[in-house]
Amino acid sequence: MKVLGIESSCDETACAIVEDGKKIISNVVATQIPFHQIFKGVVPEIASRKHAEWILPVVRQALKEADMTLADVDAIAATNRPGLMGSLLVGLTFGKTLAWSLNKPFIAINHMLGHMYAAHLENDIEYPYLGLLVSGGHSIIAKVNGFDDLEVLGTTIDDSVGEAFDKVSKFYGLGYPGGVVIDRLAQNGDPKSFSFPVPKLDKGDDHRYDVSFSGLKTAVIHQADMFLKKGYEKTNENICAAFQETACKTILSRLFRAVEDTGLTTVVAGGGVAANSRLRAMLAEHKELNCIFPPLKLCGDNGAMIAGVAYHFLKRGDRSPIDVTAQARIPQFKRGLANLEAFGRR
Ligand code: KG4
Ligand code: ZN
Repeated sequence: MKVLGIESSCDETACAIVEDGKKIISNVVATQIPFHQIFKGVVPEIASRKHAEWILPVVRQALKEADMTLADVDAIAATNRPGLMGSLLVGLTFGKTLAWSLNKPFIAINHMLGHMYAAHLENDIEYPYLGLLVSGGHSIIAKVNGFDDLEVLGTTIDDSVGEAFDKVSKFYGLGYPGGVVIDRLAQNGDPKSFSFPVPKLDKGDDHRYDVSFSGLKTAVIHQADMFLKKGYEKTNENICAAFQETACKTILSRLFRAVEDTGLTTVVAGGGVAANSRLRAMLAEHKELNCIFPPLKLCGDNGAMIAGVAYHFLKRGDRSPIDVTAQARIPQFKRGLANLEAFGRR
């Protein structure tokens, strides 16, 4: 089954064709970064307009690179949640219209299920495992029982980890997207140059696997800024290295708790921050774990992860109704809730 997957939840206009949830036949990602860079962050209005302008050429390019026509496509999938409303609507409406006009099956996909699936495109992974979903919008530690069954154990109580990277970078005027810039600058910095606290959320078992990044972000901004103003020889490289070290330690401390409590030793990462070199290196040191990362090109937003996970829904007979809508937020991403229904149907 060849599935054409569309992704437009944030600032990448993307389309891929994937066969049987595994073989990437084509994978086109048109990034809008240059258009948002001057504003130091994603401007939703610009993002929607660029998606509207690019969606047709991107889908055409994916077909061209696959050497296929629409007649060769068996089903269509598009991200419908969570994300920027205007951005989601472009890809979703395009996908639904295509499916409707061609009379082919359509399925709407949760973006985070796509991220969780990305590593499966290049690896054979058995369920259950611990999922580490780290992106611009989410920081989730989950017990993953199946392609549509994430039991969220922990999440952020404030900013997501990617958001913290982006905000620190924005404050110091380092560039956008922040994670990529900080990762690069940190390579030449000393992680011990500043000591930032790993937040403690240990009151009872309520927040056992939860993370918090807004305190770290504020500490980095104020503490480092104060030192810089006093004329200390502290470089951006050092600030980046120390911040990145603490951000990674924060999320991994909770992940390791989940490893201990569940006994699961396979950890699968996904999302833009899964591209972080320090996070990858820290996890790689844990030889007792089987840590699986998607290749770098599949960490950020792409259509292949959408088409890939869509195959499993479609194979099971799931279809989305033609009036399926976009949802900016997913209220079901709360600790303790099994998300079968939320992920499965619409
Ligand atoms: O998954 P993604 O492309 O979009 C969302 O679903 O949010 O993730 C984007 C996030 C941004 O916050 C970006 O700064 C971060 O991923 N990111 C990174 C790296 N590359 C991208 N964060 C840390 N290190 C990286 N190498
Ligand atoms: Zn994403």
